[in-house]
Amino acid sequence: MIVTLEVAGGVAVISVNNPPVNTINAATRQQLFEALAELRGRSDVRAVVLMCAGSTFFSGADIGEFSGPPQEPGYRRLFAQLEALDVPVIAGMHGTVLGGGLEIALACHYRVALPGTRFGLPEVTLGIIPGAGGTQRLPRLIGVERALDLILDARPVDVARALELGFLDAQIDVEVRAGAIAYAHLLPTGGRGPRRTSERLVDPASATPAMRERLTAQARRQYPNRTAALSAIEAVFAAARLPFEQGLDFEAELVDRAKATLESKALVHVFFAERETRKVPDLAPEIRGQPVAKAAVIGAGTMGAGIAICFANAGLPVTLIDSSGEALERGRVAISNIYDSMLKRGRIGAADKGLRMGLIQGALDYASVADADVIIEAVFEDLALKRRIFAKLGAIAKPGALLATNTSTLDIAAIAEASGRPQDVIGLHFFSPANVMPLLEVIRSGQTSPQAIRTALDLARPLKKTPVLARVCYGFIGNRMMEGYAREAQRMLLEGATPRQVDCALEDWGMAMGILGVFDMAGIDVSVNVHRANADRYPPDPSYYQADLALYAAGRLGQKSGQGYYRYTPPDRTRYDDPQALQLLQETAVRLDIRQRSHSDAQIVERCLLPIINEGIRILEEGVALRASDVDVVWTAGYGFPRYRGGPLFYADTIGLAAVLDGVLKYRELCGPMHWQPAPLLARLVRERRTLAEWDRKRD
Ligand SMILES: NC(=O)c1ccc[n+]([C@@H]2O[C@H](COP(=O)([O-])OP(=O)(O)OC[C@H]3O[C@@H](n4cnc5c(N)ncnc54)[C@H](O)[C@@H]3O)[C@@H](O)[C@H]2O)c1
Repeated sequence: MIVTLEVAGGVAVISVNNPPVNTINAATRQQLFEALAELRGRSDVRAVVLMCAGSTFFSGADIGEFSGPPQEPGYRRLFAQLEALDVPVIAGMHGTVLGGGLEIALACHYRVALPGTRFGLPEVTLGIIPGAGGTQRLPRLIGVERALDLILDARPVDVARALELGFLDAQIDVEVRAGAIAYAHLLPTGGRGPRRTSERLVDPASATPAMRERLTAQARRQYPNRTAALSAIEAVFAAARLPFEQGLDFEAELVDRAKATLESKALVHVFFAERETRKVPDLAPEIRGQPVAKAAVIGAGTMGAGIAICFANAGLPVTLIDSSGEALERGRVAISNIYDSMLKRGRIGAADKGLRMGLIQGALDYASVADADVIIEAVFEDLALKRRIFAKLGAIAKPGALLATNTSTLDIAAIAEASGRPQDVIGLHFFSPANVMPLLEVIRSGQTSPQAIRTALDLARPLKKTPVLARVCYGFIGNRMMEGYAREAQRMLLEGATPRQVDCALEDWGMAMGILGVFDMAGIDVSVNVHRANADRYPPDPSYYQADLALYAAGRLGQKSGQGYYRYTPPDRTRYDDPQALQLLQETAVRLDIRQRSHSDAQIVERCLLPIINEGIRILEEGVALRASDVDVVWTAGYGFPRYRGGPLFYADTIGLAAVLDGVLKYRELCGPMHWQPAPLLARLVRERRTLAEWDRKRD
């Protein structure tokens, strides 16, 4: 039974229990209908409380219902019946009240919540708009402008803000049921009865053309290349001119239109893809991960400090080891600075910094990691050094402890072997800054035990990371796919494109940051070191990564030196065009006798994306990634690929694999066969007229 109804002292309590987060699915709606039917005509009921058991009020609609035909019973009829009750209906809320969860509360007559409750309408981040009356009820409660602020911002607000915006009537204390019932008893003394949102009017004067223009401009800035936010504006403004029922019809029309967009399909794809990554077909379901109560990190540099913060933020004690007191102190200062900036931006409270830093203990002696459940190594990228460290860890760590390396490029099997217990060793590839970036590549060697894999995937949850499982290969999933992207971007510079032209084309298309801006941010010396260390695996192409090398040779290391592909005036990170950089690139092109050509924005994007897609398909074919959707998660969570395009492999399906293959063959003609060979699986899927999504379904 999901929904229960109890009446006591004149108050009916409809309580919903649909673990884990009280999603409103079809069964819940059906039972809510039945509860409302039972209430009809009962003379002993003077008020109704709607509440949920467990950790939260309704957290949202069932996103699984997005695709396919609408499932009965519908939201509209249910909310209409709830609202039509002729006794006051009070939503008693706690937890995270999102989307359809907030919309059902808006259909109630009064809304009260426990401290700590958060409310939001995140629909536009899924490419849709609130579709259960939210766009018509919210402006009736708080006005057009405030309603759109909430919908366009898409981030949850707290109780104080909800009270200020005006859709929450009161904060209740102690306990949701008792608090909401007490509030219900107060209503008649205040002379307050049913108060139907749908019967309110929006003052048409509050929805001015100037406001609409301003909000539209804001939506275009915040959600470029997308339409959901614009549809939300249309819907909310309609509330000011249409009667309620017609407004709901209009909302329904806009929702249907939004659901049909690629934007929405892509965003929903990524939403589910992120929930899928922990499923590993070859791990037996009875395999349980090790609980993690204590952690250790070896190396207090850039990555080690960030990783230690992840543990401390999760409330887990962590020992941070380095080879000298000075290095430890540098790490401590870096951590303290990161917390200071979080404090400044309101991400943490004043007490949190001390508490969290208190969980991070510096140490020089490896003996202090002997009782850690997980140890993550993040020292210099040097195989011999890492092997020495893993030999020590193998001897000291407690039996079954997870031994992880954060290496980006080294062979994890070789590191594992040195530990003497390769079954416990795994790659945990964090991205920089480790305390911010959500992606965590989890790399298993042939010898990693199923339990170690499960422990690593489970550990991602408290660390607030999205894990994606990969097998050992150079660059794993993400960096391996970067190779062709970076190569083509640099090559186009030598053919006469400017850094700004390349980066702007990519950014206008949707990449969070153009690749050349990324190199400047990460440090050109960092890429050059990788090129040098891997020169033996590079193809015999004299132009390969020559743009990087030319800038490096001229001392241009990127943002840190104030010049790279662009010029900077630190600490400002604005990119200025730099004729000197253009000249260096030009000279390199002349030296290498590279023919100049012009590049349209579309060509730049295509030439960068096709190698990403082609390599992604190879990665699938080799079994390095479990599924195409995992590859999409790596790129959307870790590489700034636009979620609204669904990740590179979803995007490949949307343009059609035949078009991808044609593109690869076109560039093979144009640029030569050395770098442009279609992945065999790409050619096969085109022959068989199949998509990558179908390939995923067949394998799962
Ligand atoms: N920086 C990145 O963007 C990034 C991203 C992903 C992975 N990685 C990988 O993470 C690892 C660390 O990178 P980083 O950028 O943090 O390097 P870093 O140079 O900032 O830090 C390395 C730290 O390791 C310490 N160290 C060296 N030898 C040690 C030893 N024997 N015992 C204990 N500590 C020792 C150093 O003193 C230093 O504090 C590398 O394997 C790197 O490839 C880096």
